[in-house]
Amino acid sequence: MPRYHLTTFGCQMNAHDSERMRGLLESLGYAPSDERDDADLIVFNTCTIRGSADERFMGNLGEARRIKRERPDAVVAVGGCWAQSQKDTVFTDFPFVDIAFGPGEVNRLGEFLARERLAPVGGFTLDGRFSGELPSRRERPHQAWVQISVGCNSVCSYCIVPAVRGRERSRALADVVAEVTAQAADGVMEVTLLGQNVNSYGRDLTGEDRASFAELLAAVSGVEGIERVRYMSPHPKDIRADVIEAHRDIAEVCEHIHLPAQSGSSRVLKAMRRTYDRDRYLALVERIREGVPGIALTTDIIVGFPGETDAEFEESLSLVTEVGYDGAYTFVYSQRPGTEAGEQMADDVPPEMKSERIQRLIETVQATARQHLSRHVGTVAQVLVEGPSRSDPARLAGRTRHNTMVTFAGTGCAGQLVPVLIDGATSTTLSGRMADVATPVRA
Ligand code: SAH
Ligand code: SF4
Ligand code: F3S
Repeated sequence: MPRYHLTTFGCQMNAHDSERMRGLLESLGYAPSDERDDADLIVFNTCTIRGSADERFMGNLGEARRIKRERPDAVVAVGGCWAQSQKDTVFTDFPFVDIAFGPGEVNRLGEFLARERLAPVGGFTLDGRFSGELPSRRERPHQAWVQISVGCNSVCSYCIVPAVRGRERSRALADVVAEVTAQAADGVMEVTLLGQNVNSYGRDLTGEDRASFAELLAAVSGVEGIERVRYMSPHPKDIRADVIEAHRDIAEVCEHIHLPAQSGSSRVLKAMRRTYDRDRYLALVERIREGVPGIALTTDIIVGFPGETDAEFEESLSLVTEVGYDGAYTFVYSQRPGTEAGEQMADDVPPEMKSERIQRLIETVQATARQHLSRHVGTVAQVLVEGPSRSDPARLAGRTRHNTMVTFAGTGCAGQLVPVLIDGATSTTLSGRMADVATPVRA
């Protein structure tokens, strides 16, 4: 049996595409290999969101070059967003790469493998089927990702994603529900709907297929056996009243929204082409909190965008404290080729200033999150057990409906919903002990 080794970089979309690649390869008779050195087929699923992503991948690709020198029969396949961005040069710049395919071509991996493998394979298209229609190998039996759309129609000036993932396309509601139904029959209790801009779902669907994101939330929540529904990532501009109502009214839709702000400065937001300003973002936060009191909000923030002044950076810090996020992903701006900011704006915030700003932002996020997460201390949270805690295997770990990791003392196994009395909070996790009450799955 030939063996494959797969390395994944980047976001959940890529992690999910990798599940599909595994499913596809295993259905073709490949067995997984733990070591790249032992693999007949070396696959990379790449990311190119920031320069640092490219650099990390280059290190790995260097190792593939070494392996290929030692074992010329090994096949090197590079998929994902970096591959798409390098489609014109990948085979000349990296002659040891046998196969390259973009994120819209996961379904064609088998076909590429079948071809004479020394010939470079071209034919990049973004018109592949949804990878969600391919066989899959899930990491966790009780949790699953579900692709609801591909691509992104936004034009955020810093972002390379639209260039590598193409225009937005929604998957038919019936297809999504059919996949979730099959997953539920296979033991899945929690689904995370995935897309670059999940909540603009359905705008490209016509006729009988026409459906909104809120309708999709309701339909997926209605699938027998599904206890929790999450999604990643929404765009603040597309959070409408019906989505907030879904969080309020549909028991399965969890009390967490990842609401990428990117900046707290209206001037910077405009240059980023985010289409909202600070006040509109804060007004949205208020509407969400009114509709769903206690809901967890998390965010993404970029520091050092072209022209960002000290005062504008301070506005990002004050946004964090004003909103009171449960957590935030923080990024240093990285100039990307082909993007509006990359081509037309000078990357003029000096590196040491970027480092200082990200450091201060991280400190503010941690302090805010610790304070905010401590609101749960003394309450009983419903936790979906994932298994023994990594840091202390005598304890269990799982997530609350608010999407916070909890480690706790108690008994139980993966896939159980258990009540946990929260007794401590850090900036990223909660701790507790199992409460006495019998498992209250849902009222
Ligand atoms: N579609 C998702 C994810 C986009 S990529 C969304 O819109 O939320 C994830 C995050 O990477 C973005 O939210 C942004 O904060 C960050 N990011 C994107 N391009 C970047 C760049 N050029 N430099 C630094 N961070 C970037
Ligand atoms: Fe990039 Fe903006 Fe699209 Fe997100 S919404 S993927 S940040 S262009
Ligand atoms: Fe990276 Fe592509 Fe995701 S660039 S962040 S893997 S969409």
